[in-house]
Amino acid sequence: MSDARAITELAKRRGFFFGSNEAYGGVAGFYTFGPEGAALKRNVEAAWRDRFTVREGNDEIEAPTIMPEPVFEASGHLDGFDDMLVECGECGESHRADHLVEDASDVEEAESLPIPEVEELVAEYEIACPSCGAALAGRSIEEFNLMFATTIGPGSGQQGYLRPETAQGIFVEFPRLKEYARNKLPFGVTQIGRAYRNEISPRKGIVRTREFTQAELEQFVDPDDDDPPLDRVADVSLRLYPADQQEDPDGEYVEATVAEAVEEGIVASEWVAYYLGVAREWYDRIGVDGDRFRFRQHLPGERAHYAADCWDAESEVSGVASADPTAGDWIEIAGFAYRGDYDLSKHAAHGDDDFTVFEQYDEPRTVERAVADPDMSVLGPEFGGRAGDVADALRALAERDPSAFEGETVTVEVDGEAVTVDTDVANFRIEERTEAGEHVTPHVVEPSFGVDRTVYTLIAHGYGHDLIDGEERTYLSLSPEVAPTDVAVFPLVSDAALEEVADDIVADLRAAGLSVAHDDSGNIGRRYRRQDEVGTPLSVTVDHESVEETPTTVTVRDRDTTAQVRVPVDELAAELEGVLESGGSFETLLAGYDRVETDVTRS
Ligand code: GAP
Repeated sequence: MSDARAITELAKRRGFFFGSNEAYGGVAGFYTFGPEGAALKRNVEAAWRDRFTVREGNDEIEAPTIMPEPVFEASGHLDGFDDMLVECGECGESHRADHLVEDASDVEEAESLPIPEVEELVAEYEIACPSCGAALAGRSIEEFNLMFATTIGPGSGQQGYLRPETAQGIFVEFPRLKEYARNKLPFGVTQIGRAYRNEISPRKGIVRTREFTQAELEQFVDPDDDDPPLDRVADVSLRLYPADQQEDPDGEYVEATVAEAVEEGIVASEWVAYYLGVAREWYDRIGVDGDRFRFRQHLPGERAHYAADCWDAESEVSGVASADPTAGDWIEIAGFAYRGDYDLSKHAAHGDDDFTVFEQYDEPRTVERAVADPDMSVLGPEFGGRAGDVADALRALAERDPSAFEGETVTVEVDGEAVTVDTDVANFRIEERTEAGEHVTPHVVEPSFGVDRTVYTLIAHGYGHDLIDGEERTYLSLSPEVAPTDVAVFPLVSDAALEEVADDIVADLRAAGLSVAHDDSGNIGRRYRRQDEVGTPLSVTVDHESVEETPTTVTVRDRDTTAQVRVPVDELAAELEGVLESGGSFETLLAGYDRVETDVTRS
């Protein structure tokens, strides 16, 4: 069985995730996280919140998931948030054309290509419909908008959309959020929540779904003044796959520290480089395998409509750890985009609020400003009701392009129409002014994480097999910080005395704040296997020796090695907490307590 199929099977059997609504035939692209998966996902979110909100000193918000149409007109999603759709002429099934091309050829990132080129590739590789086998050559490829539309309110109501990214909920609230930040850049706002995309062909279980969770950070900065605290991550090593290396048939990874990546200009933005470093450390902390991880720069045609530069964090999920960038099955788990002032400028232009920050100078400055002060007694009779708009356009042009007023006439655009007036009427001049500060439209740096794909990566990277006493075992080597359960407690056999001790231990460990599973069904080997498969780092067994000897002791078993030690119950909670905390290890127990021998052979 391939790793992907084995993971899907394990996920369903052990309650990590499974297709939703199966009683009603199911709908592709929707998944339910079962008890183990929901706990794992919650722990990933908590670890993300700790690192990207709390430790960075950022603020977290929770915005609605449905937003009105004008938001997405402004953000560009209504026009530009499309994927390439090809419909089979035979069976009518819809497919993502760029994915079909990638599956059938060596072409990577086909979404960065223009549609006519993808149509040619469909023909060249004689790509057939995956559903019915009919040829797709000659079928036209359409742009398909991924947003789910809805109506807000009864009747014809107001057109709305389910948000395709959590980010917009932060951008539209910027006028209020800057007040909470006391109008001081830089500041960061985070949000963890659901996003919705009507994916043409959802695939790979929770990797591409129609409803998923994002954890996003919008870092607002003054591009001229604000630098990130780069020294904190300067020495973090990054495996980078820049665009030029992807375009070179012999392209390779570039291994560089964060400081080197900035100095050598591999990563253009210091803020993006800073967050690549923070993310690299965080992925390490939660258990992503560094040998199956890279940062890949977007190719020019691949970037989203808002991004000036973007790097994706990618994980390999088929089990291949290779120095060859073209080997393995890579999925995007996060994006790090330099969005510039795109979002706030767009909302400023479409919305009715102030999306700038007023930055006070240390001391007032005398500056020269180009101004137009149009003569309304001339504009009024000439332009009637449009005179005000013409005057506004002249004032804006004076600020933007003073040289436009050098001739005898000046032309501005009003409602899409060119309007020409005498320069004298515009009353153009250069004024000296004393100013206390200036309005700055912040630039945005955005680390955007897919929580579901992170969960999938942790399962894929933790997934392992070995032989225990000649029997094959599957286990998930999840880091204690994200494992759904910290400790499992078992009475060895069904026996009232053993069960009583086990019950007390469960109560003590829960009181100490650990998440504890209590399992007394089936033989002990099977119970260990069950916990190994859901990634529980430690198992505690109450056996006959526990109740027959003083002090009461139990065995503690390590999931990955299956090594066991015997520990007095009085010391249990403190010792387990020590192993589970960051930097803790089962080695401490092996060094401090008597070992109980077991037979383990790794395959
Ligand atoms: N605000 C930026 C943004 O939304 P994105 O690259 O489109 O950027 C960010 O999405 C992350 O969300 C991706 O890196 C991926 O992990 C996750 N993601 C995107 N589409 C997804 C889908 N259909 N199913 C699951 N996760 C998805």
